[in-house]
Amino acid sequence: MPYSGAMLAYRHAFHAGNHGDVLKHVVLMLVLQHLNGKEKGWRYTDTHAGAGGYALTGAYARQKREHDNGIARVLDRDDMPEPVAQYVNLVRSLHGNVVADGAPLSSLRQYPGSPLIAQALMRPQDQLRLFELHPTDHRILSSTFKGDRQVEVYMADGFAGLKGQLPPPTRRGLTLIDPAYEGERDYASVLATLRDALTRFADGVYMVWYPQVGKLGSRELPRRLQALAQGASKGWLHARLTVAPSAGGFGMAGSGVFLINPPHTLHASLQPVLPWLAQALGRIEQPVWVLDHRAV
Ligand SMILES: C[S@@+](CC[C@H](N)C(=O)[O-])C[C@H]1O[C@@H](n2cnc3c(N)ncnc32)[C@H](O)[C@@H]1O
Repeated sequence: MPYSGAMLAYRHAFHAGNHGDVLKHVVLMLVLQHLNGKEKGWRYTDTHAGAGGYALTGAYARQKREHDNGIARVLDRDDMPEPVAQYVNLVRSLHGNVVADGAPLSSLRQYPGSPLIAQALMRPQDQLRLFELHPTDHRILSSTFKGDRQVEVYMADGFAGLKGQLPPPTRRGLTLIDPAYEGERDYASVLATLRDALTRFADGVYMVWYPQVGKLGSRELPRRLQALAQGASKGWLHARLTVAPSAGGFGMAGSGVFLINPPHTLHASLQPVLPWLAQALGRIEQPVWVLDHRAV
C-alpha cells in the first residue's frame, strides 16, 4: 500500500529535544565522529529525516514541551560525560541558540534534528541523503539545505528510497532509520528494509531508533534486530533508556537505538553516558539503562 498524506499525522516538532532525541542524537554524533577518523568520505542516509531543525519557541514545541524532560534536563549540568558535553556544545552552537552575553545559558531557541547534526559533522568529501514524506517538513528541510551541493533531499518513502543509496560510492556510510511508528507496520518495514540493505551494502553502519511503548512491535523489535544481525554474522549494539512514567502502557517510557556494524569504539564511549543519561533524564524511581553488544 503506498503512503498517503492522511497517514502522515506524526509531526516531530511536537517531540523535538525529548529524551528519545537526546539518546538518538548523542549516538548519531559519536558514530559520525568515528567515521571522521578516516579521510575517505562517507554518505549519511536519513530515511525519515523530519524537518531538519525545530523552533522550541514555536507553537508545536510549546504545546507539549517535551524538551523540558529531554535536552533541558542535561543542558546546565556540570558533571556531563565528555560525549554528552560535546553533544550539548553542538546543540548550543546552532544558529539561533548562540545567546548574548549575560543571557541564561539554558535559553535554547532551537533544537537540531538528525540532518542538522549530520551537517555539523560533515566534511567536504561527505554526503547527506535525506528522505521526508510530509510535505510541510519536506519543504522546511529542502529550504534549510538549499544550495548545499553535498546534500540531496527527497520527498519520497525512505524505506524504498534507501535501495538507491546503497552502496555509497566510497563504500563508507551510516544509515539512520527513524520512522514515526504510528502503526505496527513501521516495525515490519524496519526489518525488511535492513534485510535488503545488508544484501546491497553489508559493511555499512545501520542505526535504528525505536520507542519503548506498549505495542507488540516495539517489544519485539530489539530481539528481531539482534536475530537479523546475528543471522548475517554482523556485530551489533543495543542501547536503551527507560526514564518516563507510562501509565497503563500508554506513553513512551523510553527508547532505544540498535546498530548493526557499530564502530568498535562505540560501546566504550557509551559506558559512562548511559547511566548518566538515565539518571539525568529519569522521572521514575528507578530509571533503567541497557547497553549490550556483540562484536565480530
Ligand atoms: C521521528 S521523525 C524523524 C526525526 C529525525 N530523524 C530526527 O532525529 O530529527 C519521523 C519522520 O518520518 C516522516 N515519515 C513518515 N513516513 C515516512 C516514510 N515512509 N518515508 C520518509 N519519511 C517518512 C514523518 O513525516 C516524520 O517527519
